[in-house]
Amino acid sequence: MTGTIIAKLIAFDRGDRHRVNHALKVTGYAMAIASGERLSGGDKRILEAASILHDIGILPALEKYGRADGKAQEELGPPEARKVLASLDWSDGDIRRVEYLVGHHHSYGMDGGPLLQILFEADFIVNLDEGQFPSQSPVSIRDRYFRTPSGITVFNALF
Ligand SMILES: [Fe+2]
Repeated sequence: MTGTIIAKLIAFDRGDRHRVNHALKVTGYAMAIASGERLSGGDKRILEAASILHDIGILPALEKYGRADGKAQEELGPPEARKVLASLDWSDGDIRRVEYLVGHHHSYGMDGGPLLQILFEADFIVNLDEGQFPSQSPVSIRDRYFRTPSGITVFNALF
């Protein structure tokens, strides 16, 4: 199932390697943190799908607005995530949970539950590695935004 979602993202992003690789890395870190936080299998399945699809709004945002800031991604990502998961016969309830995560993944600092928190942390780890926050120190981002013990452990091992 995971492989199918990844294959659909590759097709959706028209083979944009950077974007696909970013999503794969975020998914890997999210799953590592999720294991440490002892998420249930059901929650891991939701988080995994949301991690793969979290940035699916970038391409439609660029096409619609000519920009892909967080707000535009949060608006246009969820309907695309829904299409992917509906095509795989996911239940409406599970799709809604993924939509929520995709639709808030740039709302840093918001208390949106443990899955959203893990998605924030995994995305920060990868964005820091990719040089997305050149003016901020990694530790300042950790201290401001990381909350899960497992996310902090993963961060400290890497930075
Ligand atoms: Fe991301």
